[in-house]
Amino acid sequence: MTSSSTNGARARLALVTGGLGGLGTEICRQLAQAGRRVVAADLPASEARLTAFREATAGFGEAIGHEAMDVSDHEACAALIGRLEREHGGVDILVNAAGITRDASLRKMTPAQWHELMRVNLDGLFNTCHAVVEGMSTRGFGRIVNISSVNGQTGQFGQTNYSAAKAGVHGFSMALARETARKGVTVNTVSPGYCDTPMVAAVPAEIRAQIVAGIPVGRLGQPADIARAVTFLSADDAGYLTGVNLPVNGGYFMSF
Ligand code: CAA
Repeated sequence: MTSSSTNGARARLALVTGGLGGLGTEICRQLAQAGRRVVAADLPASEARLTAFREATAGFGEAIGHEAMDVSDHEACAALIGRLEREHGGVDILVNAAGITRDASLRKMTPAQWHELMRVNLDGLFNTCHAVVEGMSTRGFGRIVNISSVNGQTGQFGQTNYSAAKAGVHGFSMALARETARKGVTVNTVSPGYCDTPMVAAVPAEIRAQIVAGIPVGRLGQPADIARAVTFLSADDAGYLTGVNLPVNGGYFMSF
């Protein structure tokens, strides 16, 4: 990974969890396009998945790197973020895009489906933010963008676990935004609607077709639609935007 931008200043370092995923890869690409150095953190990946990621990010050379990290492991998050602080001067932008589904109606949901999801989608947020917040506050700059979901706003049949966690993501963002506002650290949420990703492709086709029919824009979101919102909220001059939830859902759920 290169460590400076073209004007000689240290390019800001972005850490993207779920960085090899459907949304994460495009977020990495757009952040690199915006001049950031990017570390895509994800579970240890198969060679095929890593090759697909390298191909998708090939145009960005050394600006995008990859590290294995399980967001549900507090010590692993602290270790990687500590190393990035020592080796690269600190994580300036944190994007929490790691997330899983464990869909089942509540009467069929097992405790394992509940707890696995909470460990990734909510504990993961605590683990990564806990590790970056001190350094960002000390340096007087930070951008944290947490990926929630339209289903955290509306609730979805079969997703009591996911909807609860995703609503929790924005509660977390608002609380942390208050704690860090005076330190130059903003904390915001992006709430994607249904996007063209493997997660949504796993929804039964008939249900997916009904959902797409209810999207006013008339199509699934593209990862680029979401990455654009993340890049906007993580810009250096976005310092007055904090505690915001930015829905990007093609009009699927409109609200104040
Ligand atoms: N609304 C109302 N009723 C529904 C329903 C719905 N959406 N889905 C099923 N039902 C009804 C069925 O008609 C059936 O009724 P009867 O008992 O009267 O026959 C009953 O509920 C079936 O209940 P089950 O608990 O047996 O449901 P199931 O096991 O068949 O399926 C499910 C449950 C697997 C969760 C399935 O509904 C499903 O896959 N839903 C899609 C969930 C979804 O949208 N996930 C999003 C994943 S992508 C994502 O999360 C990304 C993002 O951020 C947007």
